[in-house]
Amino acid sequence: LKSLRKIYSGKVRDLYEIDDQRMLMIATDRLSAFDVILDDPIPAKGQILTAISNFWFDKLKDVVPNHLTGDQPEDVVAAEDLPQVEGRAVVAKRLKAVPIEAVVRGYLAGSGWKEYQQSGSVCGIPLPAGLREADKLPEPIFTPSTKAAVGDHDENIDFAQCEAIVGKALAAKVRDTAILLYQTAAAYAATRGIIICDTKFEFGLDENGTLTLMDEALTPDSSRFWPADSYQPGSNPPSFDKQFVRDWLEASGWNKQAPAPAVPLD
Ligand code: C5P
Repeated sequence: LKSLRKIYSGKVRDLYEIDDQRMLMIATDRLSAFDVILDDPIPAKGQILTAISNFWFDKLKDVVPNHLTGDQPEDVVAAEDLPQVEGRAVVAKRLKAVPIEAVVRGYLAGSGWKEYQQSGSVCGIPLPAGLREADKLPEPIFTPSTKAAVGDHDENIDFAQCEAIVGKALAAKVRDTAILLYQTAAAYAATRGIIICDTKFEFGLDENGTLTLMDEALTPDSSRFWPADSYQPGSNPPSFDKQFVRDWLEASGWNKQAPAPAVPLD
C-alpha cells in the first residue's frame, strides 16, 4: 500500500498501521500449509477468506467480542490503494495477542489423530481406547499449540504448559471460550450439512483486558470442514479446506525439519 505503513507480514495476512488503536488487516492470496508458503497464490482467496471470517465474527459476536471496529477499509486508505483492499481487508483493533493457538477438536484428525495413535491422548487429554481416524470425540477438546513466528514450527502443548505461557485464569478463559465458539459454530454448520472437524482460534486482549477473537474465524485455512453426507469414520472424508495441500506436501516428501522458505516483505 502507498498510504499506510506495513507493520507485519504473516504467512497469509499483512498488517498496516492506521493509528494507535487500529490497523488494516489484508488477507492476501497466499496459500500456506504447515510452515510452507506455496509458490502460487490462489486468485481471490483473500476475498473469500475475509467474507467467511466476517460471516462467523458476526454469528459468534454474542459468544465473544471480535477485533472488527466496524470502520470500512475504503475509508482509511487513499484512492490509489483501493484495488488492493477491495473485499480482502478489515479494520481491526490493535490487541495484545494471547501467545497460543486455541485449537478445538470435535473429531480425530491431523496431529490429533497422530498423537492419539502414539499415546492414547491428545495434548495430555486421555481419550477412550479404540478410536478410529475421523471418529467423533465424546466431547470437543481444547488442544492448544505454541504460536511460532514465521519460519518456526507450532507444537501441540498440554494445558499445564498453556497455563505456564498465558497464566491460569486466562488459560481457562481461552479454553472455555474456544470450546463454546466451536460448539456454536458446529451446531450452525450442521444445519447446512457440514461437520466442523476441528478449528483454530486466535485471541487478543483489548485495552480493558477483554478477551477478543482476532485474525480469522472458521475459514478453510484454520478449520477442517467435512461434508456430513459422505462422512465415514475410519478415514478422513474429502475436506472442504486446505487438507489436500497438507496431504500433498506430506506425500511429496516435504520435511518438517527443513527451514521454511522466506516470505518477501513486499
Ligand atoms: O494439524 P492439526 O490437526 O494440529 O490442526 C488442527 C486444526 O487447527 C485444523 O483445523 C487446522 O486447520 C488448524 N490449525 C491452524 N493453524 C495452525 C495449526 C492448526 O489453523 N498453525
